[in-house]
Amino acid sequence: MDVFQTIKERRSYRSYLDQPVEEEKLQAILEAGRWAPSVMNLQPWKFFVVKNSDVKAKLKAASQETLQTIYEASGWKWVSKISLEFMTEAPVIIVVAGDPQKTGADQFLPGRGQGYAYSCCAAVQNMHLAAHASGLGTLWFTLYETGKVKEIMNLPAELDVVSMIILGYPVQPEASMKRKPLEEMVMMIE
Ligand SMILES: Cc1cc2nc3c(=O)[nH]c(=O)nc-3n(C[C@H](O)[C@H](O)[C@H](O)COP(=O)(O)O)c2cc1C
Repeated sequence: MDVFQTIKERRSYRSYLDQPVEEEKLQAILEAGRWAPSVMNLQPWKFFVVKNSDVKAKLKAASQETLQTIYEASGWKWVSKISLEFMTEAPVIIVVAGDPQKTGADQFLPGRGQGYAYSCCAAVQNMHLAAHASGLGTLWFTLYETGKVKEIMNLPAELDVVSMIILGYPVQPEASMKRKPLEEMVMMIE
């Protein structure tokens, strides 16, 4: 699939079929993550591939609590209506965690030091695109509390959970999400 087509056609999916992800496809997706750019090529990421139903259920329960916390803090009604069924429906969750110590030269600049997280996000996006090109669906998921995820999964203390990738075969195509016109986001400095 052409890279521009892959970028434009990728969508976020929030319901999944009870159908496993083929091992070759999973490996190809992880490989796409491995080849992402990273600050000083430090590759500050670890990819934890969760297939275990109990662990997925615990992550879902923890995120359910997190939604309640967000709802109480924000008062946003739509937050109280979010369904997290996809966390147990999807056969795989890839938890992407980064090491804040591996953040490169920006740690010496005021207000910076997020290079490790940017690098992880590059890997995450590579994996979303590779999954789409392989006929799979994904969701970039961030409504969790890092401490809870680390406790459930017994992750190394130094790691920061940057994102979860929900991965599987989607139930149906998602409605196309619009984007703002290019003129609204591009400023030419000539
Ligand atoms: C950093 C980041 C965090 C996101 N977190 C969530 C999330 O926690 N839950 C969710 O349903 N979607 C999440 N999304 C997906 C966005 O809602 C989605 O990308 C956006 O609405 C555009 O839709 P599309 O991906 O189908 O083009 C996240 C996306 C990004 C880039």
